[in-house]
Amino acid sequence: MTSATVDLSVKDRGTLFNPDDEAKAAGWGTLDPYPLLEKLHDGPPVVKGALEDLMGIPRQYNPGMWGGEVYSILSFEAVNKAFMDGETFSNRVYERLSKPALGDTLLNLDGGEHKRLRNVSKPWFKPSFTDGWWTEMWTVAAVKEIFDRLTEKDQADLNLELCAPLPMSVVSAGFGIPASEALEFRKALLLHGSPEEMAKGHAFAAEMLTRLMEERRANPKDDLISRFVHADIENEDGSTRKLTNDEAMRYCFLIIHAGGGTTWRQLGITIMALLNHPEQMEMLRKDRSLMRQAIQEVTRWYPTDTAFLRYVEKDTVLEGVELKAGSIAYLCLGTANRDRKQWDKPDELDIMRPAKRHFAFGAGAHACLGQHLSRQEMEVALGAMFDRLGDLRWDPDYPPAALGGGTLIGRGPVALNVRYTPIG
Ligand code: HEM
Repeated sequence: MTSATVDLSVKDRGTLFNPDDEAKAAGWGTLDPYPLLEKLHDGPPVVKGALEDLMGIPRQYNPGMWGGEVYSILSFEAVNKAFMDGETFSNRVYERLSKPALGDTLLNLDGGEHKRLRNVSKPWFKPSFTDGWWTEMWTVAAVKEIFDRLTEKDQADLNLELCAPLPMSVVSAGFGIPASEALEFRKALLLHGSPEEMAKGHAFAAEMLTRLMEERRANPKDDLISRFVHADIENEDGSTRKLTNDEAMRYCFLIIHAGGGTTWRQLGITIMALLNHPEQMEMLRKDRSLMRQAIQEVTRWYPTDTAFLRYVEKDTVLEGVELKAGSIAYLCLGTANRDRKQWDKPDELDIMRPAKRHFAFGAGAHACLGQHLSRQEMEVALGAMFDRLGDLRWDPDYPPAALGGGTLIGRGPVALNVRYTPIG
């Protein structure tokens, strides 16, 4: 039988977005941002200065490369206004953050060009399509295969054996990339390394996608590559045309890139949070109707990314603070998602909180395209975890689980070593 899921062997741990190794490679610390952000809650909602400087940590972003002033946007209201006003707070920052590796994509485009491009794939990521096509075709099968492997034993590192392979398997399978090639493909798209390494990886991924796109153009299948090569995009004048090969390729690169590491880390954070709050885990195990709000709460409480950047396109005033055109603004999800005006005891995890809007998946025109898919993957995975891993608990032979990664981006557990009684 051929394997549907990507099997991450231990040798890949160091190369494939293991949060701790990635942080070390980038020279970042592995400090928990929340104690450092706490003092900012009492100050003004918009502050001059880079977020790292306010937190007293080494810079992870490099806002100086744009040459303008730098501001940090901290409160829920202010972050919301910045996310929602894309004309003033644009994604031009990604011309330097993602374009060198991924080319022109949704991330760095704005306005009509962004909207027309996003409309191409919107139907394939809306809730009904993720609950139906993605879940039924790919997620359920990948989860089953992963849990069949897990239940052959009674201890595991769920970070490496569940959280990492699941999203990569689902996204690769949904695209139509064979599981045997998915790991090589994802590695080739890593956003760090020397320019030469990144160019080599890019060329490898492009070659593989070109081959698959040619195959699907001639012989369409029920996968996303086939959808992309046959998709229409609207021109500025309202007429339509097919996506070019190059556009389809860049779109695929972005989605495959964005759909792996984020869900890995966020699912890992969710499992870690539940194991550290056993009474809440038990409530959820017994009452699965709480699943949506539990995931909403963990993503509020600890989003894998703490802050995103925006470019200030024109002079503006936000919460009484003047920001000049050409400045860089940090939109701090970490403080906005724990705004004291929005939530009671926001530093506490409470899965019984009524679900409420927050910024773990961004907001506005660039809000996460894959958010419904990723929530759905987490739901199916957590459901299987409760059904098939009985008496789930931390493995006492390992040190307590810890979060690593950058302080501002890409946080997730370093390992999730657990013991359990296998079921089924
Ligand atoms: C828990 C998992 C995830 C989290 C926390 C997350 C978070 C985010 C955030 C915060 C943004 C906005 C970035 C910004 O405004 O600068 C974003 C954008 C995006 N995400 Fe996700 N994401 C997740 C999973 C996924 C998945 C599974 C996919 C696709 C399969 C995906 C595809 C995208 C794309 C394409 C964008 C760019 C959208 C645009 O610029 O229009 N994400 N994500």
